[in-house]
Amino acid sequence: MVPDQSPDVHDELFELRLERWLPDCEAGLRSVYRPEEMAPLLAAVESVLRGAHAKRRPSLRRLDQRRALRPDWFQRPDMLGYAAYTERFAGDLAGVQDALGYLEELGVTYLHLLPLLTPRPGDSDGGYAVADYRRVRPDLGSNDDLASLADTLHVRGMSLCVDLVLNHVAREHDWAQRARAGEERYRRFFRLFPDRAGPDAYEATLPEVFPDFAPGSFTFDEELDAWAWTTFNSWQWDVDWSNPDVFVAYLEVVCHLANLGVDVLRLDAIAFLWKRLGTACQNEPEVHDLTQALRAALRVAAPGVLLKAEAIVGPRDLMPYLGTGRHHGRVSDLAYHNSLMVQVWSMLASRDVRLTVHALRQFDPAPTTTSWLTYVRCHDDIGWAVDDGDATAVGLDGHAHRGFLSDFYCGGFPGSFGRGLVFQHNEATGDRRISGTAASLAGLDAALELPDGPARAAALDSVVARLLLTHAVVMGFGGIPVLWSGDELALRDDPGWADETGHADDNRWAHRPRLPWVRNVLGECVDDRVDPSTVTGQVFGGMRRLARARRGLPQLHAAWGTEVLDPPDPGVLALLRRHPEGPMLGLYNVTERTVHVTGWLLGLHGLSDCVDRLSGERVLVSDADSVELAPYATRWLAAG
Ligand code: GLC
Repeated sequence: MVPDQSPDVHDELFELRLERWLPDCEAGLRSVYRPEEMAPLLAAVESVLRGAHAKRRPSLRRLDQRRALRPDWFQRPDMLGYAAYTERFAGDLAGVQDALGYLEELGVTYLHLLPLLTPRPGDSDGGYAVADYRRVRPDLGSNDDLASLADTLHVRGMSLCVDLVLNHVAREHDWAQRARAGEERYRRFFRLFPDRAGPDAYEATLPEVFPDFAPGSFTFDEELDAWAWTTFNSWQWDVDWSNPDVFVAYLEVVCHLANLGVDVLRLDAIAFLWKRLGTACQNEPEVHDLTQALRAALRVAAPGVLLKAEAIVGPRDLMPYLGTGRHHGRVSDLAYHNSLMVQVWSMLASRDVRLTVHALRQFDPAPTTTSWLTYVRCHDDIGWAVDDGDATAVGLDGHAHRGFLSDFYCGGFPGSFGRGLVFQHNEATGDRRISGTAASLAGLDAALELPDGPARAAALDSVVARLLLTHAVVMGFGGIPVLWSGDELALRDDPGWADETGHADDNRWAHRPRLPWVRNVLGECVDDRVDPSTVTGQVFGGMRRLARARRGLPQLHAAWGTEVLDPPDPGVLALLRRHPEGPMLGLYNVTERTVHVTGWLLGLHGLSDCVDRLSGERVLVSDADSVELAPYATRWLAAG
């Protein structure tokens, strides 16, 4: 008998992927690096990929194959995300394992754990100042605990996202330490300037990210004897992506995380990667070339793993993160829909959808192989990314509207229900970003300021309705909706947020609360999510209903686009999702008025006999009839 000489099937697949994806990777790299840098760079990339392939666990290889057979796995309507800090959600990684039942109860299938790699000691910007990409934060668990959590999630049909902070490292990271020690190779990992000439030239056009507690974008470091580029805090050093060694170093990190079992890498602050004199140093084309190269390389080593762009930029700059022009469908698989998030709060404050309609219509359809990540809010502040042109087009002044939104959500506008906090008031531009949990922004604190009685009860009903409406918009838009931990329980801003060491000047900690059932362990709080007489119970139950209805609506598959219809009323957002199985019409009343939508709108889209998939109610209307929307009501209309 002739022994079987055929190569291992996984090795063969690896070679095929190399053949398929390396040209894509190379094209991205060629747009960025000098011709003479290419040969050693490509050799290094291939060697990293071969090494990573050799180490990929059999269970992950099987998952890769499953995903190759179902490439739209992340676009399907059963995707529902949940984002949390491990310790604030469940103590540590073992605690997260124990809490998976809770997430399943909500319908969650995608878990984003905020930075969990070893950060610098002391203040670390919530872990966004990474000192060691190779090691999980010891107080959260070990690398093995992370791998084991990933395996459990996969068995339960869930996926795991972690942050890849790739614009900067902590001053304490090995690369930075070596740079400080004078090693030339590592000095070249950073953008260093001997004097203020360079920083001054760049700062002429650079916006400040943290003007309040970290003004400027450069920091002089005695040990370096140079100015380091520090877009964020003084101890977060921007790396220099124009150095090909930096690309290879991050590719190694990417492969390491993928091989631990991470399914989605969140590309933190991706917009800032490339610096160009005379610009804002955000959204430069090289950012997309580099993403294309990283993604193509990842497709070779760990084809089931996705990239997610965290680009919190203006609406006109957002689409390229899912790919436009030569990058169409070749960059990140997922991107935060920052613009939709801002518009949700804008509609709620102004009780008017016309700006939103105009703004959303400016977006080209996303590549059909990608997905937006939709959200009501996240662990960061809300910056009012309202485009001046969009505002003007609907008769608003952009600056004034942004000012109104800040006033409204910090409770400074007469009659406002928002009770958020002003984050980073920029004296130069007048910008005021806002911190706050969804419940605090949607009026829970304001309602509780009222004396016990009918007025308070009515205000609480409105809060519940607003929270469900805002989440319905993001769950009914198409893409992966992600809930921010605590919002499903209507948690308010944490009153003790400033007490923790290093947090006092960063009020984003106000909206990163610890979960009540974690607090329960400490004997502080009672969990009433299952009690429908409470605000918490109503919100939790409502979110579960939204998730359940969403799962049954094929129209919400991310490959299909959202059509933003002419509003049937200035207070009603109407979103149409066409699909071969029939359309879905989402109607969202952003006001506290009862609104009637004419029956012909439904008839026009073949929905004069349909079902509201949220309530289960059959809707039968003629052109002359109307559909009623209670204050803040949502209707998801589709065939029964
Ligand atoms: C991202 C994170 C934010 C952090 C910043 C710097 O925007 O979401 O929390 O401060 O990057 O890493």
